[in-house]
Amino acid sequence: MATPHITAKKGDIAETILLPGDPLRAKFIAENFLDNPVQFNAVRNMLGFTGTYKGKPVSVMGTGMGMPSMGIYSYELIHFYGVKNLIRVGSCGAYSDKLDLYDIILAMGACTDSNYAKQYELPGTYSAIASWDLLYKAKQVADEKNIDVVVGNILSSDLFYTPQEDVHKKWASMNVMAVEMEAYALYCNAAYAGVNALAILTVSDSLVTGKKATPEEREKKFTQMMEIALELA
Ligand code: HPA
Repeated sequence: MATPHITAKKGDIAETILLPGDPLRAKFIAENFLDNPVQFNAVRNMLGFTGTYKGKPVSVMGTGMGMPSMGIYSYELIHFYGVKNLIRVGSCGAYSDKLDLYDIILAMGACTDSNYAKQYELPGTYSAIASWDLLYKAKQVADEKNIDVVVGNILSSDLFYTPQEDVHKKWASMNVMAVEMEAYALYCNAAYAGVNALAILTVSDSLVTGKKATPEEREKKFTQMMEIALELA
């Protein structure tokens, strides 16, 4: 049974999946962190793999950029393949002046400037949050491994380029510490389906200072983020 975007057979995808935005990141994770990875998808080059980590089955697949893309892939993984734990491993831009490049964030909540939640016809504003079990476990794993993490609120935006220069200041005034483009849709899809989701992010650039990550440092911190994510399987 295939979906419009995933050709895997039922059972090919583990209950726990790591979701980087970049499909080549998914390939890198599969090749460097999983044992015996087997590719289950290549439609639109959105590569997906299943292997094991410390003996437990884990999958990894790209989501593409933005909430529509994340919305499609997470929906199909949940509803057609029975995935129960969806862990985004991505990057974000810092809105807070307290964040440094490469800091690791556990996104407890996600705000948005998108209309993604309109589909649920709620009579108010939906607060998208991580599932507590994954969030709590991720924090415990980080503490055990002596990896510093920051837990808090982020923005999932439809925009990478904004006409206004001070958008980050407005969100920062509400203690929203960083921006990415996918978590809100992931959290909505997971909540509506009654499954678990968490976004773990590393700071790749700062909207406050204008600093940008170098590939080498990014790699080191990325490994720490993966160490946390993989223990959640
Ligand atoms: N904006 C949106 N998404 C991002 C950014 C950003 O500055 N950095 C990493 N993901």
